[in-house]
Amino acid sequence: MARVLVVDDEATMVQMVTEMLRADGHEIFPFNDATAALAALDSIAPELVITDLYLEKARASGLDILQKARSMTPPALVILITAFGSIETAVDAMKKGAYDYLEKPFKLDELKLCVHRALSYSDAISENLYLRRQLKAKYQFSQIIGSSSGMLGVFKMVQRVADTDSTILILGESGTGKELVARALHFNSRRQFAPFIPVNCSALPENLLESELFGHRKGAFTGAVNDKKGLFQEADGGTIFLDEVSSMPPLLQSRLLRVLQEREVRRVGDTVPVFVNVRVLAATNVPLEPKIKDGSFREDLYYRLNVISITLPPLRDRRDDLPLLVNHFLKDKVCPRNGQPFRVTRQVMAVFEAHDWPGNVRELENAIERACALSETQVLQLGDLPPSLTRYESQVTASTEFDPRVSPLAQSVEMQPLRHAPAAGGLEAEGSPQPTLGGAGGQPVLSLKAYLRSQELMHLNRAMAVCGGDKEKAAQMLGISLATLYRKMVEEEG
Ligand SMILES: Nc1ncnc2c1ncn2[C@@H]1O[C@H](COP(=O)(O)OP(=O)(O)OP(=O)(O)O)[C@@H](O)[C@H]1O
Ligand SMILES: [Mg+2]
Repeated sequence: MARVLVVDDEATMVQMVTEMLRADGHEIFPFNDATAALAALDSIAPELVITDLYLEKARASGLDILQKARSMTPPALVILITAFGSIETAVDAMKKGAYDYLEKPFKLDELKLCVHRALSYSDAISENLYLRRQLKAKYQFSQIIGSSSGMLGVFKMVQRVADTDSTILILGESGTGKELVARALHFNSRRQFAPFIPVNCSALPENLLESELFGHRKGAFTGAVNDKKGLFQEADGGTIFLDEVSSMPPLLQSRLLRVLQEREVRRVGDTVPVFVNVRVLAATNVPLEPKIKDGSFREDLYYRLNVISITLPPLRDRRDDLPLLVNHFLKDKVCPRNGQPFRVTRQVMAVFEAHDWPGNVRELENAIERACALSETQVLQLGDLPPSLTRYESQVTASTEFDPRVSPLAQSVEMQPLRHAPAAGGLEAEGSPQPTLGGAGGQPVLSLKAYLRSQELMHLNRAMAVCGGDKEKAAQMLGISLATLYRKMVEEEG
């Protein structure tokens, strides 16, 4: 049973259609007046609309109803009924998103068949909805990990703007989670049950990208052997995510601007535009302003895309998130071995703390996955890490003759499960004031002096790593003399 809105200025037609569909068990909302039908569309929220194309006595037309029905969320399917001989306009209406049309006069059986087809199509979409609902769980906010102030700002923004139709520009270095945020925006909006379609604008040459995005007519160019719907049409009712939008070629930039302004797309080789109901999200890992200056990115498009922007901070600026992220990847992303999740040593954690993470969260995720694959035990060691990470570590230890064994940090204590957001700078198990270091492992609680010393060493290590092992630079950064740095590096615990 479906909710069907029927509108025609001929009362007998409305009555006939209504009776027939009611007999089939559908819930019918009949209207003789297009303006009233238009006003009631939102509150009725029908699955199907059957409307006359010309509603001559009324001010509103079938096309207005079509447009409104298609822009609802979720969009209703529309069957148009047209006067004999108005086929041109009917084709036009199909392009504006009608599901089908019937020419007057028609047999009731024809209408029945047409309604049946439309509703089975709508059922198929609902089945998809079920699958998408399951997918949604994957893109809950909880999948975006972070408790640093930078990430809390991001969460707040995502929550505030997810369920709007605003275009959003997501900024951030490579691997900071831009696509994750785009998916969270979509799956937390009322468009969640319609498609989310990511498009990498740098992956295709201009002409292919154009027909990919906007579709093409058969014969529009060599190789166009069939009509093809573009991704904008595929995303109807949902969200399109234009990734690496900075590399979109200029011609396509102006076409995209048109879509954003007019909400219609024109297939390559076609003259008639097609209405689309799509929310646009875009992302870039290079700043757009210099591209506007050198003329390779349209300023007007920039303003259209940048209505609201969300900036993801690089991982090196939110090291507080490291323990949570490491825990997340170990627990939720990597399969446990022998039924036991992997853990990391404090040394590994200290290297993570010191690393600069040019590849951001993706680099961390890959490093952990790699280490888990290579590790011979349940506890990831320094040797399991990729060389890009341990390079600095060896510089630090070699150049300072720093024996990691003197550092309380270096004890091979596994990370404890996190119970709350950790304090800035480190290992929660160690930084927490409660006697948690021992925890299950039974290690003693550190003296305050030893604890402060461990924090100091970790900070020195980090400074050395950031400076690539250059002690002078590190001392300068830390605001101490070179001699003090040397002393602190070799100082034994008292
Ligand atoms: N805050 C986070 N919490 C959990 N996982 C994250 C987070 N940020 C990123 N990731 C993970 O890191 C990987 C890279 O994220 P994503 O693809 O969203 O980055 P991106 O910013 O789109 O990168 P690029 O610019 O290279 O396309 C993904 O596997 C993602 O799940
Ligand atoms: Mg991406």
